[in-house]
Amino acid sequence: MNDPDWWRNAAVYQIYPRSFADANGDGIGDLAGITSRIPYLRDLGIDAVWLSPFYPSALSDGGYDVDEYRDVDPRIGSLDDFDLIVSALHDAGLKIIVDIVPNHTSDRHAWFQEALAAGPGSPARDRYIFRGGKGEHGELPPADWQSKFGGPGWTRVPDGQWYLHTFAKEQPDLNWANREVRDDFLTTLAFWADRGVDGFRVDVAHYLTKAIPEVLPSWEELRSPGAYSEGFHPLVDRDEVHEIYAEWRALFNSYAPPRAAVAEAWVPAHRRVRYASPESLGQAFNFDLLSAGWDATEFRRIISDNLDLAARSGASSTWVFSSHDKVRHATRFGLGTRTNGKAWLLTGGTDPVEDRTLGLARARAATLLSLALPGSAYLYQGEELGLPEVAEIPDECRQDPAFYRNKGVEVGRDGCRVPLPWTPDGSSFGFGPGGAHLPQPAWFAGYAVTIQDNDPDSTLNLYRRALDLRSRLRTQESLEWLDLGPHVVAFRRPNGWTSITNFGDETVVFDGGEQLLSSSATSEDGIVEPSTTAWFAA
Ligand code: GLC
Ligand code: CA
Repeated sequence: MNDPDWWRNAAVYQIYPRSFADANGDGIGDLAGITSRIPYLRDLGIDAVWLSPFYPSALSDGGYDVDEYRDVDPRIGSLDDFDLIVSALHDAGLKIIVDIVPNHTSDRHAWFQEALAAGPGSPARDRYIFRGGKGEHGELPPADWQSKFGGPGWTRVPDGQWYLHTFAKEQPDLNWANREVRDDFLTTLAFWADRGVDGFRVDVAHYLTKAIPEVLPSWEELRSPGAYSEGFHPLVDRDEVHEIYAEWRALFNSYAPPRAAVAEAWVPAHRRVRYASPESLGQAFNFDLLSAGWDATEFRRIISDNLDLAARSGASSTWVFSSHDKVRHATRFGLGTRTNGKAWLLTGGTDPVEDRTLGLARARAATLLSLALPGSAYLYQGEELGLPEVAEIPDECRQDPAFYRNKGVEVGRDGCRVPLPWTPDGSSFGFGPGGAHLPQPAWFAGYAVTIQDNDPDSTLNLYRRALDLRSRLRTQESLEWLDLGPHVVAFRRPNGWTSITNFGDETVVFDGGEQLLSSSATSEDGIVEPSTTAWFAA
């Protein structure tokens, strides 16, 4: 339990708390619901649970707009419920990681309310990024910057000043040059670490420090490649962000075992190394597989690049196919060989047509491949059921700000956040005794946990077998590539554990060891069919 390296090869299961399990029937998932499902999590064979934000929030961005960092949203539970879940997870041998959102607070946070009341030039405003507007009466934004979810990145307050928000207008960016901001986050991190939290997932870790000049550059200039030297962009991935993480690291290392952290940093691969270094957060998400097509060459390149990068930073690599921000991989891989699902995500339609059988076969194969790799696997709730993305959410039920701020262009991320089906019937498919805060389609019944429990070939049972084998086969963090042709990704770990994925159209025959597992229910031993991964022992 006290192994300081537990995170290096962990299988981490991401829970989106509002959509996992609802104990009290108000349609919103809660901590008590998660606690009641700990036997399910234990039997799945994961090592740790990562909770997306559960803090008090108006849900302008699914909880990534935090009103108060050291509390639990009353709709989700209480601090007592939190303490309960920590001890219950630990009793089950599972670690817990929480999400920290440091780039912005919500506009309901006490600091932002104080900043509004205190007026221009006040110390309270200095915790955020306020500027005067342009135009005769300051009626125009200070610059033409855009927010991530579409629409302007500056919003005006009643006294005429404007504040910066990289995301929705309900998410004002903090000023990380302000010492009070830094100290308060150290207090927050210690608050959760003292409560037994084992690690932190750091939201948009590359955005915290900013150096905004007096004369603001244009949006075009900010986005033009090569306009700023590396590490010196005014808004993103500035070198000095690691001074903050060095302070966090010192705090993390004051615990036994040291608290782990993983950075969500959408930066070029070679810049990721800094976030993953032991002096900084210690690990960083590698999102390359989120946009990979079904292509052996691309997979091989991504894997070897990321193993190199991890070795350079002293971290272990991470592997991610699905999250609360992306179209589920069972759908992405059903959209054809080269598409990554982006077009589908943007239009919200069903063109290109989704092939669910092919998508699921490839998703199962892809997951099995990643579970055989050195490093941590981050799994997103529902992928163990092979859930596809839900496309048919009526407009009036959508919650994601990306949908509202970008109308008609992006449908947003609600399709992967629909509450899980636990049973094929009953209210909200067993999610809880009431309804579900996002509508569940009728076809969810076929993916229900209790249905899959009784089917030896189900995706759920495949994940269980794979995670169980993985926990026993885990070995040194290296691999040797095997050459089985251009459309096959095959490698052997130092203990002989071999993984073979067939991306091509022809069957692959392998007689180099005893078959342990196959992602295809119909494959014979030693035969790796197209869109299949099989594992072998030496
Ligand atoms: C991260 C989160 C995403 C959120 C954004 C702003 O990318 O994963 O869900 O909208 O940060 O906090
Ligand atoms: Ca509830």
